[in-house]
Amino acid sequence: MKQLVFSVLLISIIGNLHVNAQTKSSGAKTPPAKKAPITKPRQQTAPVIRQQDIDEGKQLLSKSDCLACHKTDTKLVGPAYSDVAKKYPYTDTNLELLSSKIIKGGSGSWGGVPMTPHPALQHEDVKKMVTYILSLKAK
Ligand code: HEC
Repeated sequence: MKQLVFSVLLISIIGNLHVNAQTKSSGAKTPPAKKAPITKPRQQTAPVIRQQDIDEGKQLLSKSDCLACHKTDTKLVGPAYSDVAKKYPYTDTNLELLSSKIIKGGSGSWGGVPMTPHPALQHEDVKKMVTYILSLKAK
């Protein structure tokens, strides 16, 4: 009888040790699993394109001087907007990059001819213009 009690004790001690070992090892694995989602989700997911921004952007663009140098499908002084759309995926980064380029002007992305700066335009309006331009890819 004593022997039976002893072996039951022994089994439960071994069982406990085993459980402890398991929780320890799974506890050690937790930190890397938590680190995994810390990436740059904003770079990976494209912002939602709102049809309203596209429409407003098209309007704003036709009121400005853009069309003197740009056409939708063919190169004029500047690149065709469909080529711009092909080159730049619709991401927050590109939206900012192109918007500040339009406001500040500049050259080098498509050749030596510079784009004139547009300092009078509102940043939010220019972002809508870029949204319209980058939406031309599918057409
Ligand atoms: C005087 C002519 C001219 C006008 C006006 C003009 N652009 Fe441009 N645009 C250019 C040229 C030239 C380039 C190519 C610049 C380069 O190679 O970096 C360009 C490039 C661009 C690009 C691509 C920039 C890049 O870095 O890839 C966008 C987007 C753009 N223009 C939008 C506009 C919008 C919107 C307007 C009106 C607010 C406008 N442009 C007015 C000549 C013009």
